[in-house]
Amino acid sequence: MRFRYVCSDCGRIFETEGLMYQCPECAKENDGHLFPKGNLIVELSDEVLRKAAGKAHVTPDDFYPYPSTDERSYPVGPTPLMRPRRLCQRLSLPGLSLKLDSQLVSGSFKDRASYEVALQAKALGEKRIVLASTGNAGAAMSAVGAAMGLDIVLFVPASAPINKLMQSVLYGAHVVPVKGSYDDAFALSIEYTKRHGGINRNTAYNPMTIEGKKSVSIEIFEDLGRRVPDVIYVPVGDGCIIAGVAKGFSDLRKAGLIDKVPRLVACQSTRSDAISRAIDKDDYRAISATTRADSISVDLPANGRMAARYVKESEGWAVTVSDEEILDSQITLTRYAGVLAEPAAATAYAALEKDRDNLVSRLGKDAEVMVLITGTGFKDMKAFDGRVTLPPAIENSVDELDRLTF
Ligand SMILES: Cc1ncc(COP(=O)(O)O)c(C=O)c1O
Repeated sequence: MRFRYVCSDCGRIFETEGLMYQCPECAKENDGHLFPKGNLIVELSDEVLRKAAGKAHVTPDDFYPYPSTDERSYPVGPTPLMRPRRLCQRLSLPGLSLKLDSQLVSGSFKDRASYEVALQAKALGEKRIVLASTGNAGAAMSAVGAAMGLDIVLFVPASAPINKLMQSVLYGAHVVPVKGSYDDAFALSIEYTKRHGGINRNTAYNPMTIEGKKSVSIEIFEDLGRRVPDVIYVPVGDGCIIAGVAKGFSDLRKAGLIDKVPRLVACQSTRSDAISRAIDKDDYRAISATTRADSISVDLPANGRMAARYVKESEGWAVTVSDEEILDSQITLTRYAGVLAEPAAATAYAALEKDRDNLVSRLGKDAEVMVLITGTGFKDMKAFDGRVTLPPAIENSVDELDRLTF
């Protein structure tokens, strides 16, 4: 067997490669008020890890539970690693880099999870994938579904940015806008799958989402010449991306390819800080999220427990920033690095700016620091309303040039 499942809460082992979502015992405790229990972790066999360990270069395929048969049918990286010189100077952090997952085909990190779930569907002979999304996961799954011939049913809050919704419609998904929150869409999508079948791709609920997301860590390891950074700043909503990042490094460590994992910093808005509360105060209760950074606006994080545990195990920490700081950081990223990031993605950079002195006191100013840029700003240009305006047009006359002040 290539893998088996382990419950992240009670440690029960499930010796199957079939479709599984949660530990049936732990999931019984889920009441909608406390972070859910029973999410499963994929454990790769010793043979898979041994094979990976023996390779001069590894790729995500070496670590996927369902490896790709033709990775060019929907490429998921490697994404560019940028040394943003002017930001390095601004923060006096020479070791800063940005991992530009905003460059993935559908414009966000979510391609990583969607691709592995599509491979799962292909392997299990399923044609339909059902999911809930704040927007990006839906767009990503719809894009992968179009490329790989799968039927996608997507529940999203009707308030999601229009470009994210239209993207999914354009890719040919069955889009169901819900007059409610992301958490409402999440519950409806699970009920839909129970009634109508298909594979449910909800983040962390389907353990393959974490397995897809871990590909970023395999890439980072190779990007840096088979090393890992000291610390990674990750934007956090449900806690699935940050758990994926941790899982990738954990697999690399199990294979004996690295001996330390980077510290993980969970970056959230003060208006959606459920996982930060869990990290700082062991508080696992739902909140009422209201942040403008729509992709990380989550009341009850689907992977909150695992995310908080991984951050603590990495000796990392949480940083919260105001929505004002997030929107300011979008402008800083564009003006100083040429990187157009959506609010959720800019949250990781906003957190680094705020946390800079703390970081230096913990790890020194030469630390190798990475910020994960998880989504492009093109999908939500409205976020810039009130901050940036298009100048009025000038007459087509050289006289007008004298009036310009630059
Ligand atoms: C651009 C972007 N960044 C960050 C996140 C947060 O990921 P997670 O909900 O897994 O914590 C999301 C999730 O939708 C996202 O779309």
